[in-house]
Amino acid sequence: MQIIHSPEEMQEAARRLSSLGKEIAFVPTMGYLHEGHLSLLRAGRKAGDVLVLSIFVNPLQFGEGEDFSAYPRDTERDLEMARSCGVDIVFIPTEKDLYPEGFSTGVEVEGLTAILCGQSRPGHFRGVTTVVCKLLNLVRPDRSYFGRKDYQQLAVIRRMVTDLNLGVGIISMPIVREPDGLAMSSRNVYLDPDERRQARCLVESIQLARAMYKGGELRAEEILDRVRTRIEMEPSARVDYAQICHMDTLDEMERVTEESVLLLAAYIGSVRLIDNHRVCMELK
Ligand code: PAJ
Repeated sequence: MQIIHSPEEMQEAARRLSSLGKEIAFVPTMGYLHEGHLSLLRAGRKAGDVLVLSIFVNPLQFGEGEDFSAYPRDTERDLEMARSCGVDIVFIPTEKDLYPEGFSTGVEVEGLTAILCGQSRPGHFRGVTTVVCKLLNLVRPDRSYFGRKDYQQLAVIRRMVTDLNLGVGIISMPIVREPDGLAMSSRNVYLDPDERRQARCLVESIQLARAMYKGGELRAEEILDRVRTRIEMEPSARVDYAQICHMDTLDEMERVTEESVLLLAAYIGSVRLIDNHRVCMELK
């Protein structure tokens, strides 16, 4: 497994591989890997000749007062896990490498980023699209893998790739959950044992929505009322948003259809968690 720090070296390696006719599969991450990340790596391993993983905690996507400096990091452990998934190249740039003095360009997707997480985290998606655009230019993958855990991020990235003709296939992968249903996230380590128990309310509210839908309830507001109430039954939980949206456009829907996705963000104590589910699908 090769470790590359310099962007120029990464781009040069990618050029060389493409000229040899190799297909590159790419998984961008902020590290502190868990099974969710590994599921993307395993899918990439099956698809591409060369599997590239990037690890970069991107300061641009963290807002004022968010957890950039506290974000969990463990590169040694990440490298071990990467090796076990058959990663060929790990790209680990530094902040100075990606944002040298004078850096002043940003990539912004309009519309899709003004709602949901974009409302509670202004500037967040601009940070995501700017770094993902840079990473795609450096790694030049044929396919890049993203988790549906970050549902809105995936929609925003698809929009950017289409609008800017980036010519990379965006592959979306299912949410990997803990045995009790909590969506895996690097941020789950912030939860103390009591909060960790309370955090189940997100997936339980999804199960409730799913049961209502199966029982014939199609009115979004009725379902969302119960979802919000279920989450806020927990003493440390506060809903940031709960919405039923169209799976592609993320437009709000008044009635649930097979194209609806339930999108949730909630604080458990001071930890902000997100989750989502297509209401018409079984929750595995
Ligand atoms: P990070 O949170 O490290 O996630 C990297 C990728 O793993 C994302 O595509 C995310 O959706 C996916 N992922 C995380 N948890 C998952 C889970 N439980 N199941 C399935 N996939 C999961 O998302 C980012 O980093 C950053 O915003 C990034 C795209 C790297 C840009 O900085």
